[in-house]
Amino acid sequence: MAMKIFDIHSHVLPGIDDGSQSWDETMQMVFQAYETGTTDLAITHHILHNSDYERENEILEKFEELKSRLAQAKIPLRLHLGSEIYYQHDMDLNHKITTYNQNGKYFLVEFPMQGIPKFVDEKFFEIIVDGKVPILAHPERNLGILQNPVRAYEFVQRGVLMQVNAGSFVGRYGEPARQMAIALMNARLVHFIGSDGHNATRRPVIVHDALEFIVERWGERTASLLFEHNPQKAMNGEEIKIPEPLPIEPPKKRSRFKLFRRFGF
Ligand SMILES: [Fe+2]
Repeated sequence: MAMKIFDIHSHVLPGIDDGSQSWDETMQMVFQAYETGTTDLAITHHILHNSDYERENEILEKFEELKSRLAQAKIPLRLHLGSEIYYQHDMDLNHKITTYNQNGKYFLVEFPMQGIPKFVDEKFFEIIVDGKVPILAHPERNLGILQNPVRAYEFVQRGVLMQVNAGSFVGRYGEPARQMAIALMNARLVHFIGSDGHNATRRPVIVHDALEFIVERWGERTASLLFEHNPQKAMNGEEIKIPEPLPIEPPKKRSRFKLFRRFGF
């Protein structure tokens, strides 16, 4: 039996954000996902401010329309709906599109690329106590994590899950992000993979290259956790048991020295 392959991060509905701009483009993107082996695609448009929820109905309607267009085109790609919430202290997490498939539990959240917001640990603690689980989008691209990867370990120890971009493994976001993606994998700090697909060209809706890389390097069991078992549970709102993370090895010698200095070695 073929395994399911989930992509939990994409921007494929037309005219919502910086992702797809037309139904033609949307159909190219979902066909690209299907053709390259994705069986389950989660749609996660940017919510940059709470006011972006004003478009919730439009997103829900376009999601339903995409489902019927897929059915008409006889493409058996399963769709799931969530959002990519830009972290803010006052972010509203109580909308239909906040958590995947309205499960009230798992939601995708991104930090500004330049660093880790202050007081985020306290905020995440509150959220987790309240029964929700933040999934941090592309930590391997965040400058704060790149400079201090131990922060990723701390987040996971406190109940945050991590989604790495498929393109990071093949160098789409540069060498530091590629090395950080590998370091996070080695430390068992990655729980999901997403394409973060925005179009069918430069930021495609493809995860299979990362799947192949992960199977080769960390084995089929790890790959099936990341691409099938964890995301299936996240979409269903079920509990996810994760392996104990390992202390993370900073990927570069230079940053290792910096880290030692920080700890006073
Ligand atoms: Fe995204």
